[in-house]
Amino acid sequence: MDLANYIADIPDFPQEGILFRDITPLMANGEAFQEACCKLAEFAKKVGADVIVGPESRGFIFGCPVAYELGIGFVPVRKPGKLPRETVSVKYDLEYGSNELHMHKDGIQKGQKVLIIDDLLATGGTVKATIDIVRELGGDVVGCAFLIELEDLNGREMLKDVETLTLLKY
Ligand code: PRP
Ligand code: ADE
Repeated sequence: MDLANYIADIPDFPQEGILFRDITPLMANGEAFQEACCKLAEFAKKVGADVIVGPESRGFIFGCPVAYELGIGFVPVRKPGKLPRETVSVKYDLEYGSNELHMHKDGIQKGQKVLIIDDLLATGGTVKATIDIVRELGGDVVGCAFLIELEDLNGREMLKDVETLTLLKY
């Protein structure tokens, strides 16, 4: 199955000049969604992850099924004002705009092997912020996995020291 058939290209969303890669058709197709999650889960097994970390919100969509499949935990990284207990946070830039990400301070235990999962790698700002948070808490980032990589935006530059899987490249 070619997963690319389930990604919709939307010009000028959410602002002019951005070609938005919409994952919702893939999510809506059971077979395509399952195939994508299975491939990410195989990678999670290969790198020996013992916890999955996913950034809000689309990281939850792929991170949670993978954690469930492996029978390991899922730890959310969230935008400001969402987590109720003490957090660590990092500011970062996006292809459009900037933001701040938070994780609960007790989200990761020292030495835990962490796989970060998100839907899409663009500039790498989100994943870099997530890596920084995990490392600040003493976690060992054993891999990063994405459904989509936008190669022109050079997000890989942020991931030189981390084993990375992307299922679709544009
Ligand atoms: C999108 C996407 C990634 C990030 C990739 O999330 O889901 O997390 O941007 O861009 P980057 O590599 O340049 O950081 P967004 O912040 O738009 O939030 P959402 O998942 O809630 O839509
Ligand atoms: N997140 C950052 N850039 C994106 C894009 N071009 N399409 C979908 N999600 C994105």
